[in-house]
Amino acid sequence: MNFREIKKLISFRRRSGAGIQTVDEFREKAKKKIPHAIWDFIDGGAGTEQAVHANRASLEAVLFQPNYLVDVSQRDTSTHVFGKPLRTPLILSPAGIATLAHPRGELAAARSADKAGAIFCLSTGSGHSIEQVAEVSNGRLWFQLYLWKNQEVIDSLISRAKNSGYEALIVTVDVPVVGKRERDLRNGMSLPVTIRPGQYLHYLRKPRWVSGILRNPAITFGNLTSFTSGDDASSIGEYVNKELNDPSKTWDDLERIRSVWKGPLIIKGIMNPKDAQRAEQAGVDGIIVSNHGGRQFSSVPGVATIFPEIQAVVSEHIELFFDGGIRRGEDIVKAYALGATAACSGRSWFWALAADGEQGVDRVLHILEKEVEDTLALIGEKTLTQVGKHNLYRHQAT
Ligand SMILES: Cc1cc2nc3c(=O)[nH]c(=O)nc-3n(C[C@H](O)[C@H](O)[C@H](O)COP(=O)(O)O)c2cc1C
Repeated sequence: MNFREIKKLISFRRRSGAGIQTVDEFREKAKKKIPHAIWDFIDGGAGTEQAVHANRASLEAVLFQPNYLVDVSQRDTSTHVFGKPLRTPLILSPAGIATLAHPRGELAAARSADKAGAIFCLSTGSGHSIEQVAEVSNGRLWFQLYLWKNQEVIDSLISRAKNSGYEALIVTVDVPVVGKRERDLRNGMSLPVTIRPGQYLHYLRKPRWVSGILRNPAITFGNLTSFTSGDDASSIGEYVNKELNDPSKTWDDLERIRSVWKGPLIIKGIMNPKDAQRAEQAGVDGIIVSNHGGRQFSSVPGVATIFPEIQAVVSEHIELFFDGGIRRGEDIVKAYALGATAACSGRSWFWALAADGEQGVDRVLHILEKEVEDTLALIGEKTLTQVGKHNLYRHQAT
């Protein structure tokens, strides 16, 4: 192999992320590529960040009881969500302003999800709009809604999602106020991104990221520009607190949304069996058990700890989703073993996007799917849909 071929091979490996084998490596690569403040925005959690760690610790406490000498030569990692197939068994959780990670942001991630046969959830606070994302994807799209103060804004977002063909609506309820994300406050994270004097060095260290930002439209909330004076730079927390959330919202508001949205309705952020039962009464079709990736409140259990308690009280027709700390295919299989319809992940696609754009998200979905397939072989199951509590070693919640 001559020098030119070696260079070509290295550059191909770099572009395709072929050397990367785990989500954690994407995390490390993202850290090297994006400014510190942006990395903190993705990686960080609320308060002591104890809930971020609890999500991982609770998943690590779930162990399998493997079965061997089973013919697992043919394995099927696909499953169904709301009666439709999910080829790669992952839902990309809604995560706002993905344009901070990469200029193509949600467009790139939605395209990757489409190619992999996964579901992409677009956040209310996305960088690209509902319509822009629908235009680039023929795959399954869900739209996530925050409980805005202004009812007209809620109705307008719902009708835009419906008109653009989004299949399901997720209502996130765990943000009566924005969690105290201390890293963001310390870093002065703001929208539009404003580089403060003390941060020049952080941004100068990432000239590629800065040039990507300068060559693209200003980063803002793509769905909200028509409703807000998006030109004021204010802290993201302040902005969201001021514009996005209304701490006076109650179950009545969810019921009202139920009467307007006829497709699958999913509530996100449930961590209490009583709330799960109340959500069922309100007529939801699905529940995302989630602590917002530990970004809202540090003093809550990990998702794998609370999941069985919620699973025990909801009816079988409610689809239950596991969201928090998923980093490996093994984690996805654990979510199924605990009774989830599907697993959701936020940071894994966001890190991959920051590290390598669309190719990164392609790669991370491929890695996770392959790990799910291998896990099935190692526990002696042919299909993901057959995985259940019988595959678990006496589960001790942490
Ligand atoms: C950068 C980032 C932005 C997020 N933005 C939103 C959002 O706009 N709406 C929402 O419901 N959840 C949001 N989340 C939470 C995710 O939907 C999901 O609950 C969380 O990432 C799951 O934990 P994981 O990152 O460990 O997978 C965000 C998460 C991250 C990492």
